[in-house]
Amino acid sequence: MKAVRLLEYGGQLVFNDVLTPAIARDEILVKIKSSAVNHLDLVKASGTARQILPIDLPWIPGHEFSVSGVVEQIGSDVAAYAPGDAAFAANETGGAYAEYLAVKPAAIARKPSNLSFEEAASVPVASQTAWQGLFTHGHLEKGQTILIHGGAGAVGAYAVQLASHAGATVIATASGDDEAYLNSIGANRVIDYREEQFEKVLREKVDVVFDLVGGETQKRSFLVLKEGGHLVSAVQPVSQEEAAMHHVSGVIMRLAPSGDVLGRIGRLLEEGTIRPDVATVYALQDAAQAWKDIAEKLPRVHGMSPSEPGAPRRKKHGKIVLRVA
Ligand SMILES: NC(=O)c1ccc[n+]([C@@H]2O[C@H](COP(=O)([O-])OP(=O)(O)OC[C@H]3O[C@@H](n4cnc5c(N)ncnc54)[C@H](OP(=O)(O)O)[C@@H]3O)[C@@H](O)[C@H]2O)c1
Repeated sequence: MKAVRLLEYGGQLVFNDVLTPAIARDEILVKIKSSAVNHLDLVKASGTARQILPIDLPWIPGHEFSVSGVVEQIGSDVAAYAPGDAAFAANETGGAYAEYLAVKPAAIARKPSNLSFEEAASVPVASQTAWQGLFTHGHLEKGQTILIHGGAGAVGAYAVQLASHAGATVIATASGDDEAYLNSIGANRVIDYREEQFEKVLREKVDVVFDLVGGETQKRSFLVLKEGGHLVSAVQPVSQEEAAMHHVSGVIMRLAPSGDVLGRIGRLLEEGTIRPDVATVYALQDAAQAWKDIAEKLPRVHGMSPSEPGAPRRKKHGKIVLRVA
């Protein structure tokens, strides 16, 4: 099969033929239509986090994908799966920048029929991270108030939509020019992080903070949480001393892909309650260019420099997707 691989930490991506994966008894082999690009791909490839996020080299990146005709081959222990279904999924180890992938059926959900394959591939990581951040770790309930840092990003946009749908009051920090976009997807209030300090302008405390930014933003978040509130970070550990001092809980979360959660998200997408956002679609063999786009936002990862001045800028919101088949 064709695949994009990383041969060494910090190396270039290469596109060539590799062996199609063999499946274990509890796996199915899927034929990928599209996969999406995540920060995580670049972080793992850079080797900077190899102690906590190791990869086996050579490594095929890609943690989310959509497939048509789900089942190419089924392991002997896989009982229920409908051949021919279109599906989408996230997986923890990577491997989706390729034509085929071996996956556990428990991670897969039916693809919403109203989404293109490119749109479907953009959903699993960001939406499930948002869902688990809000509900599994943040225990967000109807009537509560949540502050989402980085609300206009890929994860943040799902967090805003899901929190709003759950009946919470949603406050998001973002660049000022994202205000209209965030209001259009359900934010009640947007605080421009470049102009204002959220802890100075918020009059009332919040029940949950979902941190997609880290650093000082996370530190200052303790000041706006109600006692008993929850600080959930998807980016860096939360100080337990500070959390105890402020009588709140603090947790760093890591996405645990779940076909069940993704199925529930799929139904919200299908009924139009929430929507996906694709920024750019590249062919699989152009993954390196897609990484350059992402590197604009992660200047120190993978030794990449931002695009040249004057180069066309990608659409501000949404995921970068690779078309595989
Ligand atoms: N733990 C997990 O399992 C998990 C899973 C998925 C993602 N993540 C992590 O979650 C983070 C967000 O991911 P993403 O895909 O949503 O990223 P993204 O699409 O790049 O979005 C990041 C957003 O944050 C905004 N931002 C930057 N600095 C800010 C600040 N000080 N205050 C408020 N907003 C700020 C950016 O706005 P501007 O561009 O306008 O500055 C951008 O809209 C990443 O660090 C990613 O690695 C973790």
